[in-house]
Amino acid sequence: MKVLVIGGGGREHALAWKLSDSPKVQMVYVAPGNGGTAADAKLQNITITDFHALADFVAAERIALTVVGPEGPLAGGVVDVFRARGLRVFGPTQAAALLESSKAFAKSFMQRHGIPTAAFATFTDVAAAHAHVDQQGAPIVIKADGLAAGKGVVVAMTLAEAHEAIDWMLAPDHNRLGVVHNDGVARVVIEQFLEGEEASFIVLCDGKNVVSLATSQDHKRLLDNDQGPNTGGMGAYSPAPVVTPNVHAKVMHQIILPTIAGMAKDGITFTGFLYAGLMIDANGDPRTVEFNCRMGDPETQPIMMRLKSDLFDVLMHATDGSLDKVELEWDRRVALGVVMAAHGYPLDPRKGDVITGLPAAVPDAVVFHAGTVPGASGPVTSGGRVLCVTALADSVKLAQARAYEVLRGIHFDGAQYRRDIGHRAIKR
Ligand code: AMP
Ligand code: GLY
Repeated sequence: MKVLVIGGGGREHALAWKLSDSPKVQMVYVAPGNGGTAADAKLQNITITDFHALADFVAAERIALTVVGPEGPLAGGVVDVFRARGLRVFGPTQAAALLESSKAFAKSFMQRHGIPTAAFATFTDVAAAHAHVDQQGAPIVIKADGLAAGKGVVVAMTLAEAHEAIDWMLAPDHNRLGVVHNDGVARVVIEQFLEGEEASFIVLCDGKNVVSLATSQDHKRLLDNDQGPNTGGMGAYSPAPVVTPNVHAKVMHQIILPTIAGMAKDGITFTGFLYAGLMIDANGDPRTVEFNCRMGDPETQPIMMRLKSDLFDVLMHATDGSLDKVELEWDRRVALGVVMAAHGYPLDPRKGDVITGLPAAVPDAVVFHAGTVPGASGPVTSGGRVLCVTALADSVKLAQARAYEVLRGIHFDGAQYRRDIGHRAIKR
């Protein structure tokens, strides 16, 4: 069978790598892919981006299954286009993708359906937003409403930071971020600051059945010790020990199942990956920080390294509505991935740096590519997050040691990476 993966990041490299492992899969196309997917004999990059042209390609090549990686095409309605053509695709419709693409929608959805999340208010008016922050005090969280690749969130520890963030996101003369919602309006969501430990909780949903993937934890800040600006994610590992069996049950019953049921009640059938970004407090009570309607990046990289089941089979069930027949099998070991990011990431990533020292196949480690393109003598950087060096071992500490051992052999000018991926689990 042939499969298409839409996207070109580390997440898509990991999904394509895992799908190509299935004995039933002869070829995985990746659109547009990256320097890593280009170098893999079982993967083939294609340059088509238009949804209708992609659907034509899928029909002509008799591609059995399409998996959509990033939020952009989902929010743009690629699943709707494919379904209208009778093509098998795994992902949420444009309407369902609102859970991620509009924070204002997600927050009011959670409020309406009693799903635990931070208290919030939504503003389009700059003065009203400033007044609200003065009244609430700091710490407080300011979020741009719209897709901002993880960069539209400011956790303001002081009032001055909060006011600056509002101007940055909302004031017409300051709007450097430039994020607007689908309706063309710049809007911010101002949220109560939540304390606790974060985890990523991702499930597969076929419209009625839900199967949870292994848990994971991302590292959103650029610098060690969770300092510096928010990024798309600087590293992740799986499983996340903060999600105990008790917490897992609470998340399923208080967040995941009510979300799927709430969407159905609102007339929207949810299919695809549903990702709840959680804040888990000292009592083990989870609250939803955000929803994504896709896999996490870089969470996918360690999760795929631990998945033993045939992902192609699983996603065929997920697109048949028969996920109730699926029981996922996981490697008991820990997988841990460290992101190597470009010079200047996240605000102004530089492109064109030559990458050297990429290892040939090594045991229990995979270097997933993200912002890379093939160059004359090997891949060069082409985006913010460049590589995710991912390793499997018997403990977080050993997986961390192995990942950094492989990473130390890889070089490009200006590479930035954290030295402490996995620190929370190691401290436990
Ligand atoms: P988001 O894009 O909504 O996931 O936010 C990015 C990051 O900001 C999260 O992973 C958290 O680390 C932090 N964050 C977002 N909302 C809150 C909140 N209400 N309280 C504390 N931290 C938050
Ligand atoms: N790593 C966070 C995300 O994918 O949204």
